[in-house]
Amino acid sequence: MTTLQHDLVIIGGGLAGLRAAIEAARTAEKAGKSLDIAIVSKVYPVRSHSVSAEGGAAAVLRDYDTFDLHAMDTIRGADFLADQDAVEILVNSAPSEIIQMEHWGCPWNRDEDGHVSVRAFGGMSVKRTVFASDKTGFHMLHTLFQTSLKYTTITRYDEWFVTSIIADDKEVHGIVGLDISTGSFHAIKAKAVMLAAGGGGRVFAFTTNGSICTGDGMALAYRAGAPLKDMEFVQFHPTGLPNTGILITEAARGEGGYLINAKGERFLEKYIPNKMEMGPRDIISRAIITELEQGLGYGESKDGFVHLDLRHLGEKHLKSRLPFILELTRTYMGIDPVIEPIPVRPVLHYMMGGVHTDNDGRTPLKGLYSAGENACVTINGANRLGSNSLTECLVFGARAGSAAAGYIFETAGSDKDLSTFAERDETKIRTRFLTERNRGEKVSVIRKELQATMEEGAGVFRTAKGLNGSIEKLAELRERAQRLQIKDSTRTYNLELVGALELDFMLDVADTIVQSAHNRQESRGAHVRRDFPERDDEKWLIHQQANMTPKGLKIKKSPVTITKWQPEERKY
Ligand code: FUM
Repeated sequence: MTTLQHDLVIIGGGLAGLRAAIEAARTAEKAGKSLDIAIVSKVYPVRSHSVSAEGGAAAVLRDYDTFDLHAMDTIRGADFLADQDAVEILVNSAPSEIIQMEHWGCPWNRDEDGHVSVRAFGGMSVKRTVFASDKTGFHMLHTLFQTSLKYTTITRYDEWFVTSIIADDKEVHGIVGLDISTGSFHAIKAKAVMLAAGGGGRVFAFTTNGSICTGDGMALAYRAGAPLKDMEFVQFHPTGLPNTGILITEAARGEGGYLINAKGERFLEKYIPNKMEMGPRDIISRAIITELEQGLGYGESKDGFVHLDLRHLGEKHLKSRLPFILELTRTYMGIDPVIEPIPVRPVLHYMMGGVHTDNDGRTPLKGLYSAGENACVTINGANRLGSNSLTECLVFGARAGSAAAGYIFETAGSDKDLSTFAERDETKIRTRFLTERNRGEKVSVIRKELQATMEEGAGVFRTAKGLNGSIEKLAELRERAQRLQIKDSTRTYNLELVGALELDFMLDVADTIVQSAHNRQESRGAHVRRDFPERDDEKWLIHQQANMTPKGLKIKKSPVTITKWQPEERKY
């Protein structure tokens, strides 16, 4: 057991984490100061979930577009719950981040005249989403990863699972990590820690999220005393492939694809006639579920589907703009979109909520920062617009990296001895999970029940009764999860143990979602309560911050920042 030391520890090696690390290193370079940065990631960084992003990143890059228009689209999409100062930062900084990515080698698609191409995305008034084919996340992540390799001040701890943040009520001192390859626990002392570990979509059963998206970064912050904000708002993407949850990018509709019900109708005419397939995700997901409930789709509403029709776009266009979609549907559904429609249904895709931060990624806990999906700045409010999240990772990753560097230059660092912390976590984890390890149930049994209750109670449409059921079920699962059956007793790559630690984090994250959703008695954006169908600005134009206390979860309310766009009815 060793205690390591760096100035800044970044948890997560996806887009936000890498962008933050690069910016922290650049800030130090510019200031002529030394800054020792570590990236701790539970997977090799290019396997981070950012790699699976398909459609693109939004930025104002054309003469016909304006920052105000991008801001207004984002704020309306968010059903007026976004903090408008943060949105202004996002839209103003987006173009330079996209150009910076180009300079670092990101192969954005180009038009014949050499301009970077833009495509249409849901809820955006004009074409403003730049892309790299339909594997945008892959190209962006590789661009940032290769750029990070240039900085000798960045050290990586790949395949390390962070078990806790070491903090007292005043500040952060470091982290404890489990080196998955050896099974050894280590403390890493740091002046600042940044959480950029992505979202927790795996708390739902049907999701586009990779199996690594278990909300670790959110749960770590929550346990360390930082609040989780807007957790009731989770996003269902309208077009997931049935059974697997694989994402069929919104770009398929941006390129001209239609949604069709079992009667062959473009049913969005009934729900959002002025925007049709380019409506925001919350409205389109509700439309699909409503069609299914009315028997107008294929199959039962629980796992029924409608069709996404791309046939009229032609093979040449599909091959050039959506090659990955052709590959995915052919491989995983045995369907050829050139000649057949694609079955799709709403699928859990993204968490608007996360660790409460200011516009520079600072959390209320001194020395703790967060960025990307892990954080809630908040630009996304009650419903994120597609293609704003990759941009958010760049803009707010960079800001958090630079702010953390500035903080570190001014900080002496604590003299706290961390030598006992790794041992503390190891003993706790071994006692709970590996001593008498055959007494309880399998991780997979509890995880499945957790995912089922989230689908049941916290899906596209919600009620007090359903949410209460999930709250009670989660309490039962937490109790049962005290005793788990872990068959693998080895230290090297004990992924069963990692699964148990992830499940523990998932239980915390799921609880903040259902309790926040139960508390919010209105419908706004992606949070729709059948028992409170209207938006209620008088009572609920506020953020909810979930805090972990010795007496359980407590919700604190905080105001929404309005700059120049007064809340109005959300119309398209
Ligand atoms: O549909 C998509 O390509 C997803 C994009 C996003 O979530 O921003």
